[in-house]
Amino acid sequence: MSKAKACYTCSACGYESPKWIGRCPGCGAWNTMEEAIAAAPEKASAKIAAKQRPGTGAEAMKLKDIPEDTTLRIPTRISELDRVLGGGIVEGGLILIGGDPGIGKSTLLLQACAHLARDGKRVLYISGEESARQIKLRASRLEISEDIYILAENALDAVESKISAIEPDVAVIDSIQTMYRPEMASAPGSVSQIRESTSLIMRLCKETGTSMFLVGHVTKDGAIAGPRILEHMVDVVLYFEGDRQQDYRLLRAVKNRFGSVNELGVFRMTGKGMQTVENPSEELLSRRAKGASGSAVFCGLEGSRPLLCDVQALTSTTFYGTPRRTVNGADAARVALLLAVLEKRANQRTYNQDVYINVAGGLELSEPAADLALCVAVASSLKDRIVGPDIAVMGEVGLAGEVRSIPQCERRISECARLGFTTILVPQANARRIKAPEGIRVIGVDTVAQAMSVLF
Ligand code: TYD
Ligand code: MG
Repeated sequence: MSKAKACYTCSACGYESPKWIGRCPGCGAWNTMEEAIAAAPEKASAKIAAKQRPGTGAEAMKLKDIPEDTTLRIPTRISELDRVLGGGIVEGGLILIGGDPGIGKSTLLLQACAHLARDGKRVLYISGEESARQIKLRASRLEISEDIYILAENALDAVESKISAIEPDVAVIDSIQTMYRPEMASAPGSVSQIRESTSLIMRLCKETGTSMFLVGHVTKDGAIAGPRILEHMVDVVLYFEGDRQQDYRLLRAVKNRFGSVNELGVFRMTGKGMQTVENPSEELLSRRAKGASGSAVFCGLEGSRPLLCDVQALTSTTFYGTPRRTVNGADAARVALLLAVLEKRANQRTYNQDVYINVAGGLELSEPAADLALCVAVASSLKDRIVGPDIAVMGEVGLAGEVRSIPQCERRISECARLGFTTILVPQANARRIKAPEGIRVIGVDTVAQAMSVLF
């Protein structure tokens, strides 16, 4: 028997090297080489080669001869999940869900399984992390009593044979990092195991037509643990975001071969599992402190979805040489830029003020369209003047203090109107092109200074 040799594998691209290197020659990433014990090389590669050689036996076809795609989507009947998936699960599709531990991946998938089982689908839930009893416990907490096949198993060979035996329509594998192929010597969760396991699961999906959900752990910087090719291989990649302290959870698609990646699903973790939040704007604003200075309402767009949020700012006289800037939910560099614009172009001085910014509800503002709301919130706190409770503000702010046009302004306005906002400050360039809905006052502004004089 040949001796097992240590080898180093890049966790980003899978490059292999017999010795440790600081920078991966394959993808140029630093510090990604991880030690793995290589399997006796001839044996493993011979086996893989034997499996791969026959190919699919398919003939090349002309594009026009290929029948139209008639694959059916299986709706999970969890509206927010379906929205992100683009209408439901595609037959034979492989969907990867990543997210921090404890964010609710297993809970949501078990709930989805229950809905699918209720629709008469055959569903198999495979867990490498929890025992069947633990899953049962979770199911009773979620009041799930549907017929779902539960399998606590780590070895992929066994998983493969169970899938062939049960022939499920939909299967869940929780998680890919706990699955392993026994013929490979490296530990579960290592780069080579994940790569091989995923390619086997992928093949299984396409051959049997079973749609599968894969749960993926994330590393401390938020990427799905394992080789990057994992995300290339699967059809759909979803990420669960949200603060574990907060009860909102956002489900975002970052890749979708069968739909748009612009959709966002909003959930709330409750005592009875994940509940969909179909009206997030309403919920996000429901806890708003009315009558307090330093708050401005902004309508952001998450993909095609307008989402109202409460942008809060607090300024207080600093006792240090360098004032503090603490930003939660927005880009700190952008806030610094806006403070400079406020100071220079609108005469709102914050050089001797600590500034704290917070976006309520755990949302993350990434659009420049939020600039004006941030400026208004800061100015409101600085002057200690309230922005009217039925006023919403949006617009991008430039370095000259000008307010620039924003995309999809009309859509944002109608969402604001729907939630009872009657005065909406928008960039002048947008205001000119818009017909305001009945009873709504749309005010166009050209500069930040002008916005201040309108509001305060
Ligand atoms: P879980 O789905 O196990 O997270 P993941 O699979 O992403 O690691 O979620 C676990 C957390 O959710 C745990 O902290 C308990 C909480 N939870 C609820 O708040 N309500 C519930 O009904 C359930 C089942 C879990
Ligand atoms: Mg889990």
